[in-house]
Amino acid sequence: MLRPVLQYPDPLLSKPCEPVGAIDDGIRALVADMLDTLSTVGGVGIAAPQIGVLKRVVIIDVSLEKEQEDAPQDFRVFINPVVTVLDPRPHEENEGCLSVPDLRAKVKRPRLVALDGIDLDGNPVHIEGGGYYGACMQHETDHLDGKLFLDHLSFLKRSLYDKKMRKGRK
Ligand code: NI
Repeated sequence: MLRPVLQYPDPLLSKPCEPVGAIDDGIRALVADMLDTLSTVGGVGIAAPQIGVLKRVVIIDVSLEKEQEDAPQDFRVFINPVVTVLDPRPHEENEGCLSVPDLRAKVKRPRLVALDGIDLDGNPVHIEGGGYYGACMQHETDHLDGKLFLDHLSFLKRSLYDKKMRKGRK
């Protein structure tokens, strides 16, 4: 089912998420909704809090690994994902977010990372990479800690955006 994507400054987007215990029907329904929403609104990844559920679940388009724009999207589920930094040297990518409309900005993050989690069958899933792919893994996992890519921007850039969004809501 398509769910509305929460948008900044919705307070749920800045809350830490709970780890998933048992993979039950609730989690399966959550993942189905995340997939429906992501494929409808378009994007390379989504985190559960973006549809208002504070659980540690993300979906990532693993076709990004190929670094080919025409590669068909291939969404993979990561439950309780953990990022491990493999190369801490800073690398900059232009990021955007379904929950942060009308803004793309350069964000510096560690260059190479791994992402580990489990899938809906409880099997371990592991991916690693850098560039836009690595940034995406870090961006989506950040959501589970209540962090948006805005939190990586300078105070000035962030306050400008903040002002614009709060004004637009009135
Ligand atoms: Ni995002």
